Amino acid sequence: MTNPDPRWALIERLPKAELHLHIEGSLEPEMLFDLAARNAVAIPFGSAEEVRAAYSFSNLQDFLDIYYQGMSVLLTEQDFFDLTWAYLARAAADNVRHVEIFFDPQGHTMRGVGFTTVLNGIEAALKRAQAELGITYRLIMCFLRHLSEEDAFATLAMAEPHLERIHGVGLDSSELGHPPSKFARVFARARALGLHVTAHAGEEGPPEYVREALDLLKVERIDHGNRALEDAELTQRIAAAAITLTVCPLSNLRLCVIGEMAQSPVQRMLDAGLKVTINSDDPAYFGGYVNDNFRTVAEALDLGPAQIVELARNSFTGSFLPIAEQARHLAEIDRAARG
Ligand code: ADE
Ligand code: ZN
Repeated sequence: MTNPDPRWALIERLPKAELHLHIEGSLEPEMLFDLAARNAVAIPFGSAEEVRAAYSFSNLQDFLDIYYQGMSVLLTEQDFFDLTWAYLARAAADNVRHVEIFFDPQGHTMRGVGFTTVLNGIEAALKRAQAELGITYRLIMCFLRHLSEEDAFATLAMAEPHLERIHGVGLDSSELGHPPSKFARVFARARALGLHVTAHAGEEGPPEYVREALDLLKVERIDHGNRALEDAELTQRIAAAAITLTVCPLSNLRLCVIGEMAQSPVQRMLDAGLKVTINSDDPAYFGGYVNDNFRTVAEALDLGPAQIVELARNSFTGSFLPIAEQARHLAEIDRAARG
């Protein structure tokens, strides 16, 4: 029998933070079915297997159409609690110690679900995970970029009474045709309220969208950022400013952002001195959680242990945790890296 690759044990052992996770994208087909039955919501599938078979996407929009459909089963605080708790239990099994979770309030309020129903359910699970699983968290509210600036402002207004419970804003959904500039004023308001700011950019959109996210939204992180690599000057700028990129390898593959895992930008980003992290994005739809993403990219790019450790370190130094807490996690990473 051959010895297992020691990198797999290293990946499991390393403490990690997940910085790019849409909680609605962690809705596994089995839970989709259970919640559809519990809430008497009709779904166009006969079994969880049928749902999985439908998860074949040619681009981001293909996926988003199914993702928004999936959300229709989420109605009550308990539903949001169950969804979030299931993700956190799964993350704990991957030795994830800190999560910065995205949620899409507009995907729910537009269906008549109350903003506080969503927030209360998600937060209750996060608090329980902090107490029982030792996972710390930040909560990031995303604006759907295919909707209007006015709609984003209205959503921010709904969040304002709860600012001690929401730590940042992000920007997601259909990227092409919806540049960051569309939301410059909303992000300015969010920053003035003291919220952290991040945005999806350069997943399908051009390098110019990444530049706009930096210049106009003044983001602290770029979610994905793949296409920044097409622009050498932009790449240098992101490296010099130590802006964290939250890359999602399995997502990139399943959304045809890359043709095969060997084309993942992770190695090129590391080589360019970029602060890259590994994340699962929408794990129920893309076939893997954080450790699956680490393994698949390490295998395809032949990453060595030092690079795997660097990716784990970046997940904490790129987080919104205070420096002292980051340092505590980094010391644990050093211990885990020694084996
Ligand atoms: N919403 C959920 N996942 C997303 C992704 N990868 N890109 C843009 N919007 C999303
Ligand atoms: Zn995403």
